[in-house]
Amino acid sequence: MEERKGRRIIMFPLPFPGHFNPMIELAGIFHHRGFSVTILHTSYNFPDPSRHAHFTLRAITHNKEGEEEDPLSQSEASSMDLIALIRQLKQSYAEPFRQSLAAEVRGGETVCCLVSDAIWGRNTALVAEEIGVRRMVLRTGGASSFCAFAAFPLLRDKGYFPIQDSRLEEPVTELPPLKVKDLPVIKLKEPEELYRVVNDMVEGAKLSSGVIWNTFEDLETFSLMDISSKLQVPCFPIGPFHKHSNDLPPKTKNKEDSETTEWLNKRDPQSVIYASFGSLAAIEEKEFLGIAWGLRNSEQPFLWVVRPGSVRGSEWLESLPFGFIENFGDKGKIVKWANQLEVLAHPAIGAFWTHCGWNSTLESISEGVPMICTPCFSDQHVNARYIVDVWRVGMVLERSKMERKEIEKVIRSVIMENGDGLKERCLELKERANICLSKEGSSSKHLDKLVSHVLSFDSYAFAS
Ligand code: UDX
Repeated sequence: MEERKGRRIIMFPLPFPGHFNPMIELAGIFHHRGFSVTILHTSYNFPDPSRHAHFTLRAITHNKEGEEEDPLSQSEASSMDLIALIRQLKQSYAEPFRQSLAAEVRGGETVCCLVSDAIWGRNTALVAEEIGVRRMVLRTGGASSFCAFAAFPLLRDKGYFPIQDSRLEEPVTELPPLKVKDLPVIKLKEPEELYRVVNDMVEGAKLSSGVIWNTFEDLETFSLMDISSKLQVPCFPIGPFHKHSNDLPPKTKNKEDSETTEWLNKRDPQSVIYASFGSLAAIEEKEFLGIAWGLRNSEQPFLWVVRPGSVRGSEWLESLPFGFIENFGDKGKIVKWANQLEVLAHPAIGAFWTHCGWNSTLESISEGVPMICTPCFSDQHVNARYIVDVWRVGMVLERSKMERKEIEKVIRSVIMENGDGLKERCLELKERANICLSKEGSSSKHLDKLVSHVLSFDSYAFAS
């Protein structure tokens, strides 16, 4: 391990698992390269410090006339849609972030740079400039979806937005292979709000000293080339982050995780459908029942993550018909949360039925697991198109077609019939990911460059 003195990085993650987890993984990678890491985190979705013992965690709270204020409560946040929540987070934490960053930088030990989630946008650039610290951006999503986000102004000019139902199957000629239905939007009462958040993310990235990507060159070659020429800042595709395994602290396991592993240990190789729709997506009760019957009728063993509150109108499983769980017995397992990295790496897993969040996509690719793609919103649509048509490591099961018979058909096709060489392509892509992470691989080389890049910054150490 190298000397940490004078190598301090401050990180500012967005407080959602799909953003916080990769930032923590990146923190682990920097830590292994000899940096000390301070994580500035919001009081909203407060992380458990005992799970991040390698890093200094600091809550950013608003300090007004000596009184600490919590800028956004969990109950205020629960009534908002995702984009309204992001807007509120950006607004509420702008001043606490400024105060906290200033305190950290002036606190004495030299800071190399700030790494902020791309979604925090331009404000973090302005604050970093004011305080005199260089700022790198972490984009937790893929490069291909970012190309689509960066094209929003053009797509608006060309009349693609708001999306019209009659055009869904049309190709987006400016962004092959996307169709209109793949554009990364979220259905909102106020679509303008989405354009603002997206634009702020893209412009904020342009103002950075470089963008770190949780992807690998061989996976998104053209998108990475395209986006680096548009952003005009250095780009560092060093992913998949979670596969820098020697660099990352081990994850703690709870009792439920151990029970899941024991259950998987009893299943045949490549026989289990793992179904999980990430940390944010919510589904209707009708869709939930369709998934339940589809899984059961497929006659394959299944492990299904149902987050409490993720089925609209239900707390957890109460809308399942009486006797449903007893009926499938040991053949299926429903949990509230799983250790997804461990599950996907288990030899019993035969397919991942996913919403195609970027982390889930990359985690599945890294383990060579074929995907059944049911994107719900935003970048998930772009990711699904690439999974199915470009990398050809999954099959689509559209949300609007999630009926029992269709679900059974797709599951059979992926697990039993190997959907036209799907598994071979998955293993090939997994191998390509491994090569990128090897000593001479592109992700390792980009990581070396990234370390040199941040060490080259002029450091600012303010007198306290
Ligand atoms: C969100 C957006 O939905 C997604 O489109 C965007 O790319 C990132 O932010 P999320 O819904 O959280 O992501 O999905 P995903 O990106 O797949 O991240 C979920 C993370 O939680 C993954 O790292 C996954 O391993 C983890 N997870 C999920 C678990 O560990 N256990 C679970 O049971 C479910």
